[in-house]
Amino acid sequence: MSRLLLPTDVTDRLADALRAASFTAGGVHALLGPSAHAALGRNETTPAARAAAGGSPLAALVSLFTLQRPVARPHVDAALPGLVDPLAAGGLLAVSGGEVRARVDVRPYGDEDHDWWVVCDLTPGLDATPVEVGPEHVLGISEASSSLARLVTRRPVGRALDLGTGCGVQALHLAQHAREVVATDVNPRALAMARLTARLNGLEIDVRDGSLYEPVAGERFDLIASNPPFVVSPPDGDRLVYRETDFVGDDVVRRLVAGAGDHLTDGGVCQLLASWVHPADGSWQDRLAAWIEPTGLDAWVLEREEVDLESYAEMWLADSGHRGRPGYTAAYDRWLAWFADQGIGAMGFGWITLRRAGRTTPAVRIEAWDGQVAGPVGPAVLRWSEATDVEGDVLDHPWVTAPDLVQHTWGAPGAEDPAVITVRLQEGLRRERRVDTVTAGLLSASDGDLTAGQVVGAIATLLDLDPETLKAERRAEVADLVAEGFLVASRR
Ligand SMILES: C[S@@+](CC[C@H](N)C(=O)[O-])C[C@H]1O[C@@H](n2cnc3c(N)ncnc32)[C@H](O)[C@@H]1O
Repeated sequence: MSRLLLPTDVTDRLADALRAASFTAGGVHALLGPSAHAALGRNETTPAARAAAGGSPLAALVSLFTLQRPVARPHVDAALPGLVDPLAAGGLLAVSGGEVRARVDVRPYGDEDHDWWVVCDLTPGLDATPVEVGPEHVLGISEASSSLARLVTRRPVGRALDLGTGCGVQALHLAQHAREVVATDVNPRALAMARLTARLNGLEIDVRDGSLYEPVAGERFDLIASNPPFVVSPPDGDRLVYRETDFVGDDVVRRLVAGAGDHLTDGGVCQLLASWVHPADGSWQDRLAAWIEPTGLDAWVLEREEVDLESYAEMWLADSGHRGRPGYTAAYDRWLAWFADQGIGAMGFGWITLRRAGRTTPAVRIEAWDGQVAGPVGPAVLRWSEATDVEGDVLDHPWVTAPDLVQHTWGAPGAEDPAVITVRLQEGLRRERRVDTVTAGLLSASDGDLTAGQVVGAIATLLDLDPETLKAERRAEVADLVAEGFLVASRR
């Protein structure tokens, strides 16, 4: 595999050409239209190829990079003026018989405010072709990448670390709110791609080679984000660096958790996407608690999904292209046998947030929650950290109702009181909870003025109940409402 190396002036000219052709996420969507774009999301290129048949520079770039089709050289020359030969020399393109092919993907990507490009390996398995991935394959933007990008808190920070950067997608996001970004990886191809991604987007990112925290020994960060290679598989099979390490089982995640405290500044946050073992004869919560406890960090673990071992093996064997090939059933059997040997009962997948709060008794919340998520989750993580900083009796704080909370009431038409009241968060974690009239009253009156105890006391008086008894009864529920983000810390 040739080295991926471009002179900086070529990379800059490439960015100019991509921009001039409107080769952006929005530009590609507009060219293809929603249904061809959606088909592409299912790895089907035929509708998109029909939409990109026009011969414009944008159509040429879509055919070349997005659809992985050969394009006549004059069309590519028009889209990338003077760049075909240097890009071929740098390992991004291949030229043969008057046609040009992409050897890597240059993928438009963005958020509401930015148009970016990431450099990654070509998506395998387009148009139902067999999936072929080499051990050094560098993933593009996956569901997992987007999920971590939504989880990460986006407060302005000084130093941020993207551990296991791959194509550099997390580093792109971090560079928008961190003064300095360090991005690490063990795969030389990923390092080269992350450097190209950074330069293409005009960003200074300090890209370093090395495993886990080794490249940042002795350094601290305000924010660490990692989507590590967390697939748990038998150690004797092929290893794909984007999803597996040489650490056995889920030990890569344990090591990331264990090392976080030494690399976080005071108040610093480490956010991981991760997979963990459910022991056949024990509790996964206890196992994670035992990883977290020695760190002294605050932690919020949210398991999004529990996966049975059969589904887990099938998913990852399909991902590596084993499905439909000779040896598939033997590999499947080997995975199940190894899981049984290791005493693994199921796999969990979710999010870990660690925070160096410097508390004598750290706040640790480990929960399973598979409900809906809408938009960024980072704000919910910030609220969790603000709420954990509130000390003392939960009834003594003037909590504020979450700004995105809505209430639904249900009942017979014309009934004086609703039969059922539910409240629901609309953004981030869309938690829902059934409440009674006391809690509904507490939520409607919590505006940061009165403490929860004062509000509950006032409701008790209205209902002709004993205020102290009602407060004692409601203390645990108020704590739950805070922990689940229905009530948030007041900033006064
Ligand atoms: C799942 S990919 C994530 C890529 C990217 N950060 C994202 O969010 O899409 C995991 C990355 O970790 C890298 N990696 C593998 N082993 C590693 C290790 N021991 N230390 C650091 N990074 C590693 C892989 O090369 C790969 O780029």
